[in-house]
Amino acid sequence: MHSRINSGLILGIESSCDETAAAVVRRGSETLSNVVASQIATHLPYGGVVPELASREHLRNILPVVHAALRESGATFTDLDAIAVTEGPGLAGALLVGVSYAKALAFALDKPLIAVNHLEGHIHAVLLQQAQLAAQSEEPADLELPALALVVSGGHTHLYLARRQGEGWSYQNVGRTLDDAAGEAFDKAAKLLGIGYPGGPWIDALAPYGNPDAVPFSFAQIKPKAHRKDQSTDPISTFFSFSGIKTAVLRYTQIHNMSARIEERRRKLLENPEMRAHEVLTFFDQQTLDLIASFQRAVVDDLRRKTFRAAENLGAASLLISGGVAANRELRVRFTADAAERGLPIAFPSLSLSTDNAAMIAAAAWPKLEAGIFAPETLSADPALALGR
Ligand code: KG4
Ligand code: ZN
Repeated sequence: MHSRINSGLILGIESSCDETAAAVVRRGSETLSNVVASQIATHLPYGGVVPELASREHLRNILPVVHAALRESGATFTDLDAIAVTEGPGLAGALLVGVSYAKALAFALDKPLIAVNHLEGHIHAVLLQQAQLAAQSEEPADLELPALALVVSGGHTHLYLARRQGEGWSYQNVGRTLDDAAGEAFDKAAKLLGIGYPGGPWIDALAPYGNPDAVPFSFAQIKPKAHRKDQSTDPISTFFSFSGIKTAVLRYTQIHNMSARIEERRRKLLENPEMRAHEVLTFFDQQTLDLIASFQRAVVDDLRRKTFRAAENLGAASLLISGGVAANRELRVRFTADAAERGLPIAFPSLSLSTDNAAMIAAAAWPKLEAGIFAPETLSADPALALGR
């Protein structure tokens, strides 16, 4: 065992977007606590994340969240082997709150600081989940490699080929979106239909009440011709594009004169922010529910088709699906069925590990602690930080 490892406990801190999160994870495989303070209520009236408000909320929440994570874990600051923090990508001001706090804490405690890429965190959410299932002896821990990881969230729709490299991991970026991320498309389509923020969970909950075949979103709307040249010269083989389908949703509402209904719904939902999907069903006509179901089906199908094609082309031995959109029920069902048909192992994080959290940051930091890869004292936030080659 390395001398730098005693308890194996890492405190993870995450503040890249609109969740302030802290967690204590042992040896990258056992979650002792996982605390998330959501800012949904703050951003709801604006229909999206307001960066300035996000930073302020992080500042307000970071200390109570870290203290709660430690309290729930039963560990003390002195028990920790390291502090891990999200370095990027994300909102600059939001990231800075977590990075500044983690640096100060590591300095004060004289503990090593580990910088984690948020996207690597999402991939490790799946590995953490697998390790936890293995500990309950429900499933084997090790996924076959190389694994194709789809990170599909509000800010990203990326494909990575993940391999073990020494004590750590290596990632090859083999796919990305040319414009909006899939989660962004969920959020923007929801906003267009007068549904609250974030839109993904709402669309997920409402889609089962609509007919997914009602509105034929064509493939061309998801994969615009304008980018074909880009595709032939870029070494990355898979491209997503979700801005077209958002425009198609807007056009559909205009052609079908839905604006009055949308405005009425927006007002009612803002007046009743606590209502659950089944309670707000009366605010939705069948045409809107059909549009929602068709939208979700089109996005999930596009993600599924391209991910499985990439897996085949690249010879991936397994699939890891993570990020906020990986919480989507239709996505899980359809990806799982497709994987079973092809005999390809597939793994998702639990729902709470799919969306932003700090357990995934602490888990991703574990191989770095083992390898002695620590952040410099000059660490700063990097809003555009990339992962892999
Ligand atoms: O990973 P995440 O929490 O934050 C980012 O790193 O972006 O992802 C948030 C995104 C939002 O766009 C949200 O609408 C979407 O994930 N999302 C969902 C679901 N839950 C969250 N999208 C579809 N279905 C869901 N159940
Ligand atoms: Zn995320």
